[in-house]
Amino acid sequence: MMDVGRHPNITLYSYSEVDALTGFVGNFHITIRRKARYVVESECTACNDCVEVCPVVVPDEYQQGFSSRKAIYIPFPQAVPSAYVLNMEECLGNNPIACGKCAEACEKKCIDYDMQDELINIEVGVVIVATGMEVYDPTELDEFGYTRHENVVTSMEFERLICAGGPTEGHFLRPTDRETPKTIGFIQCVGSRSENRGNPYCSNICCMNTVKDTLLLRDHYPDIEAKVFYIDIRAFGKGFEDLYKRSREGGVKYIRGIPGEIEENPETKNLLLTVENTTTGQLEKHELQMVVLSLGLVPRHDGDLLKRFLTLSNTVDGFLMECHPKLKPVDAPTRGVFFAGCVEAPKDIKDSVTQAGAAAARASILLNAGKVKVEAITSRIIEEKCNYCGICARVCPYHAIMEPDRKAKKAPVVIQAACAGCGTCAAECPQDAIEMRHYRDEQYLAQIEALMAERPHEHIVTFACNWCSYPGGDDAGTARLQYPTSCRLIRTMCSGRVDEDFVMHAFRLGAPIVLVSGCHFSDCHYIDAVQWTQKRVERMWNKLERLGIRPERLQLDWISAADGQKFARVMRELEEMLKTVTMEEIKHTMEVLSNGKAEKKATAAKKAKVKKKTPTKKAKVE
Ligand code: FES
Repeated sequence: MMDVGRHPNITLYSYSEVDALTGFVGNFHITIRRKARYVVESECTACNDCVEVCPVVVPDEYQQGFSSRKAIYIPFPQAVPSAYVLNMEECLGNNPIACGKCAEACEKKCIDYDMQDELINIEVGVVIVATGMEVYDPTELDEFGYTRHENVVTSMEFERLICAGGPTEGHFLRPTDRETPKTIGFIQCVGSRSENRGNPYCSNICCMNTVKDTLLLRDHYPDIEAKVFYIDIRAFGKGFEDLYKRSREGGVKYIRGIPGEIEENPETKNLLLTVENTTTGQLEKHELQMVVLSLGLVPRHDGDLLKRFLTLSNTVDGFLMECHPKLKPVDAPTRGVFFAGCVEAPKDIKDSVTQAGAAAARASILLNAGKVKVEAITSRIIEEKCNYCGICARVCPYHAIMEPDRKAKKAPVVIQAACAGCGTCAAECPQDAIEMRHYRDEQYLAQIEALMAERPHEHIVTFACNWCSYPGGDDAGTARLQYPTSCRLIRTMCSGRVDEDFVMHAFRLGAPIVLVSGCHFSDCHYIDAVQWTQKRVERMWNKLERLGIRPERLQLDWISAADGQKFARVMRELEEMLKTVTMEEIKHTMEVLSNGKAEKKATAAKKAKVKKKTPTKKAKVE
């Protein structure tokens, strides 16, 4: 951090927040709120006179509340810059004069009670998001008694208690009697790998953090008896298995099983753990003087703001989703945005540093190029057809379309550098006023016509997204999995591109079954374009029903790139379904859809039905 602070090419905005972030790759505008420190940084010599006279004493967050700090303080010893902050919510202030002691004590006159937050606007070409994570709050796991038993501490608190720079200056003492404990237990997976409470995912770092803590204990206090309660130890990574072995060989007992309850002896303050040892199948009780809860990691609480600013999405566990897990693991789906560290997934220091290096390299490729190559497949507004409804701007996952101006009759504008080419706008536009370059509607319609040219009633028309379902089909093929030959694939960049017109055209030409398939919800390569696929298909099901066509003939399925098995299974199931579709049914569908009047009649019937259901004013009064 010192290097960063001193680097001539890096401007460090500490004690600051991002207020607003707009723009796109190469043209991001960021408004930074530099919060008032109430201390003139450039004049301050860090003499500590102000701290000595400050009468306010509050728990020190950095020391996990084991020691105290003043209202004016340096957040932690290694802070860069090493500058004081006056916390105005805690300060007694000088207006009306209640205190003002720090201002009096400061010879350099650095204290400024009237200092205001400063707004700084900067323009940048790329953004690296490295906002980190938070640790799980174990208070909801009442069986561990974290809020009731003082000698139950978290792994973060343990770090402070054993650290030379901690509140006990490296003397490991238990909180109740300030004596070095003789027995200590570590409980793994607190807040992780649990379906009911906490989080279902593995937090990656906790096992090795505990192994490291036990080794530290053995080094400093060889007489302490340490026990680790675990589900299974995940010691993958260079040298980690060796560390785990050393810990075991050093006498640390590893017991397979997570305690169900911790009770406290009110007199000795010792803790009694009840645990089912899943290796022996026995119920065991362990008396320990101290227990450490090995906490999992969770996404930051303010992550939604970041997602809104940068049009990002998250995976089911709440961490930010990368563009592609294998091919672009540090790129965000939004171009010009990269990830480093735990904002993307829980990871240790080594992986965070590796990812940060990769993110910096990816960013410098863009910056050094000096220009951005736009996607070949982007959308284009056909102004003559546009009726300025603005649907395209609302559905664009990248916010790459600027809203139209209805009054001035100004069509929406596509920011070509921000458009990723998913085609959702083109599929949703009710006026067909958007064209996707290289993937125009006419090209899709021509493909459908080619597929339907011969024996159309034997083919299952399958729209498969480029990133998941289509490779899923490839996977089935390379694995030599057998599936019926009735499947006819049409590749779309995203399932969000599948226009209602394509589906209806296939039915109109005699397709017995149409399948729309794409990535699973959290895997869509165009942020959340897949949600529009789902909505659109639901709309189509309703429409088919209104027209007297079996909605099941339009299928929707999510198939991932590695799921050739599923692809083959879905195709086999659809083949079975195909056998239930009669020629009469197909002919009726072709007739209904070829006859625009029937479609209009169905729409009118629907409107009439809705009208009938709506109570009249009179009825309401009654
Ligand atoms: Fe596959 Fe969006 S990219 S559904």
